[in-house]
Amino acid sequence: MALKVIILAAGQGKRMYSSLPKVLHPLAGKPMLQWVIEAAQVLNPENIYVVYGHAGEQILAFFQDAPVQWIRQTAQLGTGHAVAQVLPYLNPEDEVIILCGDVPLISSQTLALLTRQLTQQALNLVIAKFENPTGLGRIIRDEHSQILGIVEEKDATEQQRTIREIYAGILATSAANLLRWLPKLSHANAQQEYYLTEIVDFAVNENRPINGIFAKRPEEIQGVNTRSQLIQLERYYQLQQAERLLSTGVTLLDPTRFDLRGELAVGQDVIIDVNVIIEGKVTIGNHCYIGPNTVLKNVQMADHVEILANCVIETTVIASHCTIGPFARLRPGSQLAQGAKIGNFVEIKQATIGPKSKVNHLSYIGDATLGEQVNIGAGTITCNYDGANKHHTEIGDHAFIGSNSQLVAPVKIGEWATIGAGSTITKDVPSGQLSLSRVKQQIIPHWQRPVKKGKE
Ligand code: UD1
Ligand code: CA
Repeated sequence: MALKVIILAAGQGKRMYSSLPKVLHPLAGKPMLQWVIEAAQVLNPENIYVVYGHAGEQILAFFQDAPVQWIRQTAQLGTGHAVAQVLPYLNPEDEVIILCGDVPLISSQTLALLTRQLTQQALNLVIAKFENPTGLGRIIRDEHSQILGIVEEKDATEQQRTIREIYAGILATSAANLLRWLPKLSHANAQQEYYLTEIVDFAVNENRPINGIFAKRPEEIQGVNTRSQLIQLERYYQLQQAERLLSTGVTLLDPTRFDLRGELAVGQDVIIDVNVIIEGKVTIGNHCYIGPNTVLKNVQMADHVEILANCVIETTVIASHCTIGPFARLRPGSQLAQGAKIGNFVEIKQATIGPKSKVNHLSYIGDATLGEQVNIGAGTITCNYDGANKHHTEIGDHAFIGSNSQLVAPVKIGEWATIGAGSTITKDVPSGQLSLSRVKQQIIPHWQRPVKKGKE
């Protein structure tokens, strides 16, 4: 007996009004389908089959390396028809879980419950009670509370539409059942589709046990058919993450203005100001401050780091006691050693900034290695690009670069060297030397400013 998971993802998602297939729409930075695949993987199934169809090339291109088997449904004739495409791959002894690519937050705990209570005979349905069940399949029960069927909204009577108990689009049963039931599906319904939900009728006729399994939280089985539903789910997820961080010793100054689109590991006594966005994998040490309107993507940060407002930092490693910003941009490949300081309107790219070195104002440092206690004056530019290739700049310990200097790479500035302000440096500068390239200042004696005509 093997566990197999089928994920339905062939639909277009008409109600999204989008050129992007619905299951590629991101929730917390990750396509909905990826959430579902990851939840399935936790169950360690023998196979995960994804039924795809609409915008298939786009989906396959995105999920090139996903550990799943792709099954094409050429015409989207309904959820029952979609599952039927997988029948040739099933053995009667298999257990099967069916998930929807548009129900992204399903938890692996609920899925585990679903299989734990499964017997060869049974049909297990994930259900919930919704305040607003509009658009969803309603659970019909008899007077003994036994499940009798699922009625789609479009096929429901006025009275059935008042039912608040809904089917989540997720079920588990044996492959033997599916092999017997699916060929019998009809499409005599409002949408002329082969509804998977019709198998409930067959189970009732065969007297098979039908179990309704309540999801732990209704949000985890919230399906996404519209952008509004996607955003509601996004806000729910974000608030949950914010609460989790607060409970582990992080201060989020406003939990409703924090977005986690990836993974965040945080130390203690960290303060995260409003409108911070975390992407990819980010780690933050102890006693750090992250200023408002900051984006951190794939950043590793040690203790006592201060990021002031409005910084964008990507793929950067920051040692302890660094200060960055406000308005700094650190691009991929940046590395800041202990106590380094990056000030306002500074861009750093693929550069190592040594311990206690300072780049305080309006500078571009790209493809460079700075030693310790280097001082970069305002408006310094590493001219790293000759139009064809990138070149490196090396600046030794304690060097002082005067303001408004251009360092034309490849170039080396020695330890304790000084560059006079306004210089264009094209040759290496030896240690301890002063180098200047600016034009000598002149004083023109008795010079008079021009005066407007007619005013003499
Ligand atoms: C479905 C259920 C409904 C349930 C709801 C929960 C049916 C008939 N209805 O309705 O009872 O309350 O989910 O969210 O099953 N798909 C295919 N191929 C198709 C049609 C759909 O792969 O031919 C996929 C879609 O991409 C989607 C999933 O199946 O991921 C569900 O289809 P959708 O059209 O969204 O069904 P709902 O109307 O939401
Ligand atoms: Ca749906």
